[in-house]
Amino acid sequence: MKTVLAIETSCDETGIAYVRHTDGGDYISLANALHSQIDAHAPYGGVFPMLAKREHGSNLVGLLAAAQVKALANKVSFENVSFTEEQITTALAHLEREQELMEICKKELEENPEGVFHKKPDIDALVVTAGPGLEPALWVGISFVKALSVLWNIPILPVNHMEGHIASVLLSKKEEVVFPALALLISGGHTELVSISTWGQYEVIGKTRDDAVGEAYDKAARILGLPYPGGPAISKEAEMMRNTFTKADIEAMCVKYSIKLPRPMLKSQDMDFSFSGLKTAVLYLVRDIMKVINIVGAEELPEEILNLICYEFEEAVVDVITGKLNFAYAHNRNIKTLIVAGGVIANSYIRTHIDAWCEDKEIFCFKPEFDLATDNAVMIGLAGLLGIERDLPYVEDFSKLIARGGWKIDEVY
Ligand code: KG4
Ligand code: ZN
Repeated sequence: MKTVLAIETSCDETGIAYVRHTDGGDYISLANALHSQIDAHAPYGGVFPMLAKREHGSNLVGLLAAAQVKALANKVSFENVSFTEEQITTALAHLEREQELMEICKKELEENPEGVFHKKPDIDALVVTAGPGLEPALWVGISFVKALSVLWNIPILPVNHMEGHIASVLLSKKEEVVFPALALLISGGHTELVSISTWGQYEVIGKTRDDAVGEAYDKAARILGLPYPGGPAISKEAEMMRNTFTKADIEAMCVKYSIKLPRPMLKSQDMDFSFSGLKTAVLYLVRDIMKVINIVGAEELPEEILNLICYEFEEAVVDVITGKLNFAYAHNRNIKTLIVAGGVIANSYIRTHIDAWCEDKEIFCFKPEFDLATDNAVMIGLAGLLGIERDLPYVEDFSKLIARGGWKIDEVY
C-alpha cells in the first residue's frame, strides 16, 4: 500500500489531496480539498497569472487543514510532531518567494502548536505539480511542498500535470487500462494526442499549434459576451438549441443567417490541431452580422443568432476532434484504449461523441469522473503513485526542484 499527499497549483485551481494505492490494486481518494479561482479571474476573461499566484498563497494552508480533516475521517494516521528552530527557519526560507504564504505558515507554526503542521501524516511521499502551467502559480505549490518536506521529513516527487490528467481515469475504473492506449488531452492550456505504450511511456503525436481547445471556448465566449469560463457557457447555449430544435431546423437557420465556422486543420493529414482560427472566425462572423444588424438599429447580437453560433462552434470542435481521432486511429489500428481527459471533457456533447467513436472502433474508452475532469490534486496524487510504482527518484537537491512551465509529458523532469 502507498499513500501520498498531492499539491496542485499549476493554473487557477488550488488543490490538496490524499490518495492511496491499496494492496488490492485499487486507487482511492482519501481527501480532495479544492478551491476554484474562477470567480477571481472572471472579470479578466481568462487566468491572470499573478492573481493565481496570490490566490494559491492565501488558500494552501486552509486547504491543507481541510484535507487533513477528511483524511483523518478516512483513517489516515497522523503523528503529533514538534520542530527545531532550524527546521522552522529552513522551512520558511523555502517560502521566501511567496511572502503571503510565508506569513500564514509562520503564524500557524508559532501560534498553533496543535495545528495542521504539527500533525505529520503517515504517508510515503509528497507529490507536487512541477509543470506544465503558469510558472508563478507552479512556484507556490513547489515552495510549499519543500517547506512541508523539511517539517515532516517526507520525500518529494515532482509530477507532470498532463500525466495527472491521464492518470485521473484510474479512479473511475476498476478494470486495468489495456495498452497501447491513446490519450486525448483537451483543456484550457493544452490540446494533445499522446501515444501510451504503458504507464510512464508517453509520446506526444499531435498538439495544437496555437490555442488550446478550452482556450478557444474561453476566447469565443468573450467575443460573444458570455461569461468566463467559456466552455460551460457556450455549451449551455448549444445544448439548449439541440434540445429545442431538430438538427435539420438548426442547420436551416444557420444557412439563413450564413453561420458557418471552419474546421481548422481537419484535412491537414497530421495529428496537430489549430484552434485560434476558429476563434478568429467567430470574431469576423460576429462583426459581419453586427454590420447588417446595425443597419436596422440593434446593438446586441440577437439571442437566436448567438445560440446558433454557439451550436456551430461546438459542431466544429466535435468535427475536428473526431477527425483527428480518425487520423490517429488510421495510423495505429493497434490502439486498445482511448483515455480522454482535461477540463473540456466536462462537456457532455463532446463526451457523447467520443463514446460513440470508441464504440464504433471497438476500443475501451476511459474518462475521468465528472469532478476530476478539471484540475484537481487527486489526479496529481494518482500520477505520483504511478511514478512511485515505476521507481522514479525522489528530489534530493531542493534547488533542482523548480517550476517548469513548458514541461512536456514525454520529457524526463
Ligand atoms: O483542465 P482545466 O481545468 O484547466 C487547464 O489545465 O487548462 O480546463 C479548463 C478549461 C477551460 O478552458 C474551460 O472553458 C474548459 O476547460 N471547460 C469546458 C467545459 N467545462 C470546462 N469546455 C467545454 N465544455 C465544457 N462543459
Ligand atoms: Zn489541466
